[in-house]
Amino acid sequence: MTTPKKPILWIPGPTEVRPAILAECARPMIGHRSKAMTVLQERLDPHLKFAFGLKDGSESSVAVHTCAGTGLMESSLLGVGNRVLCIVNGSFSKRFHEIAVALGKDAVKLSAPMGSQVPFADIEKALREQGPFDAITIVSNETSTGVRTPLKEFAAVTKKFPATMVLVDFVSYIAGAPIDFDEHGFDFGFAGIQKALALPPGLTVAAASKRYLEAAKTRKSRGFYLDPVKVFQGHAERATMATPAISLYYALAQQLEDISAGVTLPENQRGKTGRAAWQARFDEHTRMQQVTEAWASSNDLEMLPAPALRSTTISCIQAGDLDVPALIAAMKAKGHELGNGYGDLKDKTFRIGHMGDHTEAGLQAMLQLADDAIVALRAAKAV
Ligand SMILES: Cc1ncc(COP(=O)(O)O)c(C=O)c1O
Repeated sequence: MTTPKKPILWIPGPTEVRPAILAECARPMIGHRSKAMTVLQERLDPHLKFAFGLKDGSESSVAVHTCAGTGLMESSLLGVGNRVLCIVNGSFSKRFHEIAVALGKDAVKLSAPMGSQVPFADIEKALREQGPFDAITIVSNETSTGVRTPLKEFAAVTKKFPATMVLVDFVSYIAGAPIDFDEHGFDFGFAGIQKALALPPGLTVAAASKRYLEAAKTRKSRGFYLDPVKVFQGHAERATMATPAISLYYALAQQLEDISAGVTLPENQRGKTGRAAWQARFDEHTRMQQVTEAWASSNDLEMLPAPALRSTTISCIQAGDLDVPALIAAMKAKGHELGNGYGDLKDKTFRIGHMGDHTEAGLQAMLQLADDAIVALRAAKAV
């Protein structure tokens, strides 16, 4: 039996994984308490520091844990006190709030309609008038709506409330846009690896401030598998509490090294290394966002978020007159998979995940096919 050719993924994650990285997952097994595993773990940290934007000499720590992104959402909350302010502007920030409630936190929800973000003045007002809060949660890039929060402006607010720990979901943001973890005074940041890091799902990466980990150590009920102290200690001591997904560690190490070496950049941009290579990766994502936006406009389609809130990894486009399932089916037939809207936005929006190792040139080629699909769908409707 032959396997049908897989469409190229332009969904909002998982995204395409390069064959060289998939090959890393097929390496022979090693013991997770072996010297080889220690060496493998040691390969990760310098690059994770670039990804989270830790400063040279930073006191913050990085970690890797075997679980889905949702696991570290929970983990981040296990290390903080009871009163939490949750900024909710889409399905994943809603999940952050739901987890806080499930953990028995006194969780206050501050919401904005899908496609927008809570105004920073309202966040400041809530922190001032309803506080003190032990922590605030936010999703930097709402995968469900393609909304990216301007983090500098957000941090300018949270810095006024230094007693509040800042917990940030970077799941569809990391490796697609710069993070200034230390500069912005964040306390816990986390991400899965299946989005702009362009890896198979199953591992998470995280950063935590010194004060977060010190405060977490004083808390009694932190769970076990998701205990943030155990997660960070296990990584620092190269002794994870449970058997990690070793195959994915190989893939992560290689991908991080390749990003830092500029290997994943388009041919005409090779030669950059270290932070410059990461910046070039972010710039490619910005260009892909701009190309997608111009394409939408040329097809009389509107983006869901306002211009200042548009994500560089995921474009969420309003369906307008288009039949979203028909467009997705037409594109699949051409070998490309787009994402439908998420939750309540299903069939009302569609999403293009221009992230990871996708390039502007690849995106342009896909969008040309989408032009043809849209012309055909509109013509069929007009008959
Ligand atoms: C922004 C965001 N946060 C959290 C998650 C949950 O990640 P996971 O499915 O790995 O648990 C996702 C998944 O798409 C996401 O996009």
